Amino acid sequence: MFRCGHASLTHHLTVSLPLIRLLYASRATTGTSYAALLGIMDHAQEKNSAAAVTGMLCYGSGQFLQALEGDRQTVSELYHRIAPDRRHTQCQLIAVVEIDARAFAEWSMKVVNWEDGGAARRQSMLETDTGSSEFNPSAMTAVQADAFLHHLAQREREMAGE
Ligand SMILES: Cc1cc2nc3c(=O)[nH]c(=O)nc-3n(C[C@H](O)[C@H](O)[C@H](O)COP(=O)(O)O)c2cc1C
Repeated sequence: MFRCGHASLTHHLTVSLPLIRLLYASRATTGTSYAALLGIMDHAQEKNSAAAVTGMLCYGSGQFLQALEGDRQTVSELYHRIAPDRRHTQCQLIAVVEIDARAFAEWSMKVVNWEDGGAARRQSMLETDTGSSEFNPSAMTAVQADAFLHHLAQREREMAGE
């Protein structure tokens, strides 16, 4: 059964760590502006790249909605490092799901400022996905948060291609 010299089995054993996506919401603490976030992200994106973590972070109304994708051990450790960061507070886990493929594969961490332009179309997307006209991630269900971030990513790709 365990023919360890077998190439495909060896391959399987080394790459089969479960891949997960974790979603959480939090609130920026005083002083954590969008500009401050961009500073945090310079370092975070480098670390994520090195750890094969991908994802998306949406900032708006002083709140964060972040998706972290990667192997389970790495993402777990990262979340436990991010959660106590005093630049935000009230971290709420929205979902942890095992995935077959990454949804944000091209981004070590794509940061989107909800307050930036392109408002009308994104606003209707928010309303369709979450049933609310406010960006309030702590009130989103897992299904809503996931749909919202997927659509936001799609929109970012369209804008990059325009
Ligand atoms: C909203 C928010 C999102 C963050 N996202 C990440 C991230 O995706 N990756 C990361 O390495 N650090 C992230 N950080 C920073 C971590 O909390 C922590 O400061 C950093 O990982 C520590 O890096 P160091 O161990 O090199 O000092 C985030 C911080 C905040 C406030």
